[in-house]
Formats: sequence, structure tokens, C-alpha cells
Amino acid sequence: MFRVTQFMQEILDPRPIGPRRNPPGPVVIWNLIRRCNLTCLHCYSISADKDFPGELNTAEVFRVMDDLKAFGVPVLILSGGEPLLRPDIYDIAQRAKAMGFYVGLSSNGTLIDETNVDKIAAVGFDYVGISLDGLKATHDKFRRKPGGFEAALGGIRLCRDAGAKVGLRFTLTQDNAQDLPGLLDLMEAERIDKFYLSHLNYAGRGNRNRKHDAHFRTTRQAMDLIFDRCWRHVRAGRPLEFVTGNNDADGPYLLAWAQEYFPERAEHIRQKLLQWGGNASGVNVANIDNLGNVHPDTMWWNYCLGNVRERPFSRIWPDVSDPLMAGLKRSPRPVKGRCAACRHLAICNGNTRVRAWQTTEDFWAEDPGCYLTDEEIGLVGSEARHQGSEVVVTP
Ligand SMILES: C[S@@+](CC[C@H](N)C(=O)[O-])C[C@H]1O[C@@H](n2cnc3c(N)ncnc32)[C@H](O)[C@@H]1O
Ligand code: SF4
Repeated sequence: MFRVTQFMQEILDPRPIGPRRNPPGPVVIWNLIRRCNLTCLHCYSISADKDFPGELNTAEVFRVMDDLKAFGVPVLILSGGEPLLRPDIYDIAQRAKAMGFYVGLSSNGTLIDETNVDKIAAVGFDYVGISLDGLKATHDKFRRKPGGFEAALGGIRLCRDAGAKVGLRFTLTQDNAQDLPGLLDLMEAERIDKFYLSHLNYAGRGNRNRKHDAHFRTTRQAMDLIFDRCWRHVRAGRPLEFVTGNNDADGPYLLAWAQEYFPERAEHIRQKLLQWGGNASGVNVANIDNLGNVHPDTMWWNYCLGNVRERPFSRIWPDVSDPLMAGLKRSPRPVKGRCAACRHLAICNGNTRVRAWQTTEDFWAEDPGCYLTDEEIGLVGSEARHQGSEVVVTP
């Protein structure tokens, strides 16, 4: 997670660098159910409208929550599938809140209506993230549901009016990039608190459909637009939040933006970016799936570290006998290719290992989704291969 707003605030109001804070436990994204009323083209969990047997029951979820709390996990993001299809979602969320977790709900929004919005509001979720992957026609095509856009927007409005902090989540591909300006306008017009731009990760249906990933030029234009909007809001003192995910090259790209427009602040921003430290999979971000399997993050569903029915999360997570976890926890990570040679490695931490693995079967190969040019990452001569403007070519 890359908090664009926070870095831009540092330009207006720089705060001391201070020591790097290591959270006691990871943020846990928890896919409580795999069933979903939609079948989106990019869905990492390959969800569908059917039952998936063997999911954790309420008592098991509560037991895992106790372990997570004792282990120092600060944040639970309750996700799916569609988490609102779980009848016990309110009990789980209420208990999580009572235990002192920061609790987020990750929903497609289409099932939020007058009958359940009060129950959602009563939980007091710290954040409700609802996906909009484009304006009406694009969203409905992407999410394969006629009427899906109107239903999701209805859910957003209901949550907003009930006083919840709401965020709009958009996964960028080559097919929906044209709608980004319109979605940002919508966010402003609808007084939505937060915008999360997620880059496509190569997992589940997102891997099968990876040829639709945004071209580098498209990604750069999208990031320029996010930076531009975010800066306008920061300068105007409006508390809208812009965050991005699944491409840690966004950090060095923001540094280049600061170097161009605020050179006097660039070194401060660089120090803050180093403190952020880039990709946190397997370290400060964890995933538990619907069956209780633990993964280094949500995009690693086909790589299992253990199951909470057999071993508590608190024992699975620190175990570095697993080669992927050992490498993810190393600093610097044992990355190769462009990532190894990159002058920004300490900022982005080698970006997204899932894309590297899905395209090469090597955890540590360079991330093919890095959209920075050779010049930007400091590559010269024979190492230099791409200039950041051609399309992503993935095998
Ligand atoms: C799996 S969904 C579950 C919650 C809910 N059903 C929804 O769609 O928001 C969680 C988030 O991950 C995003 N997502 C799914 N597959 C992805 C992928 N391959 N790359 C990047 N983001 C993805 C979705 O768009 C959504 O915002
Ligand atoms: S991305 Fe969300 S809404 Fe779409 S199929 Fe997956 S779980 Fe369902």
C-alpha cells in the first residue's frame, strides 16, 4: 500500500524522519468466503456464485482472531469473495472491533441496500472499500454484471450517508484506463473519502487475463493523473486520500515527480520513501484464505505456508524454513535482473514477486510490471532494455 497523500503532505509540511517503525504484526487481509455474486475478469480469488466447501466456521474464525490479536496483528481487512454473503459477517466484524482491531470491509457493494446498511454502520467499520472498475459500461463489462455499476454506487452512497468512511477501489487495466478521469470526478462529486488505485496483479483470473494489463505508458499517465489530483487536494487542505497498491514502482515514480516539481523537498521525500520501504508481502502484509490457508499476501493463493486449523498463524508467519518467506523477509531481497540493478531497490523492495513468478517461475526474477525506464532506474549499456513506453510483453 502506497499512501500518495501522506507523501504529498510531506512536501507542504515536512516532518522529521524519525526511526523506522516496525509494526508488531502484519496487516491481515482475510478472505472469509470465496462465494461471490460476481465473476470479475481479474479476480485473484477466482470467485463465483457457488459454495466452496471446507470454509472456516464462526468458532474457528473467532479462535484465529484470538491468536492474531495475541500475535500483535493491528488490522483485519474482511474480504472475499463477497464478505456480505457470509451470514456471520456482522458477528465477526463486531467481535473484531470489540477486540481492538482496525477493521476494514472489502466489498463489491452490490449487496448493500436499505435492509443491511444500518447493520454495516452499527459495526463501525474503520473503512469500507467498494470496487468501481470504471464508469457504467466499463464496470459492468469488467465485472460481468449488467447493472453492477448502479448497484455498487448505490452501496457507496448508502454507506457514506450512514457515516462510514468509504473508499472507491479501481483496478487499472488497458481496458478501463480511459475511465480514470471520470471516476476521479465522480469521487469528488459524490464526496467519497478515499481512492485506491490497484495495479493488476497476475493472480487467478487476473493472471489468465494478464494480456489486458495496462501498457507502461498508460500506467504512467494514470499515475500522473493521480499525483495531479492528489496534489490539488493536498494544496487546498481537503482531506481526500489517494493510495495505490500492487506496484511499488509508484514510490520511485513519486520521487521523480518531486524531483521535477519540488527539487528542494526531493531528498526529504526520498528519506521518507526509504522509511516506507516498498513491498511488504510476507512481512507486514499477510493473507488468510477461506479455507484457513496462510499466504504471503492475497495474490499468492497457489502458494500455501500452512493452515490455521493445523498450526496457529502466530507459528506459521515467523517460520522462515519456507524458501519464499525466507527471501521475502531478507533485506535486501534476493532479486535479479533489472530489480537487482535498480538504484531504487531500497525504496520499492523489488516490487511484486507474484508477477515475476507467474511469468518466469522464479520468485526472484525482475518484476515485469515495473514501468520505470532504464534511465530512471540507473541502468546503462547492455543492461538497458526498456524505455518505459512500450507495451508490457508477458510470455
Ligand atoms: C477479491 S476482491 C474481494 C472483495 C469484493 N468482492 C470486491 O470485489 O471488492 C478484493 C479487491 O481485490 C481486487 N482485485 C481482484 N483481483 C485482482 C487482481 N488480479 N489484481 C489487482 N486487484 C485485484 C478487486 O478489484 C477488489 O477491489
Ligand atoms: S473481484 Fe470481488 S466482486 Fe469480483 S468476482 Fe472477485 S470477489 Fe467477486
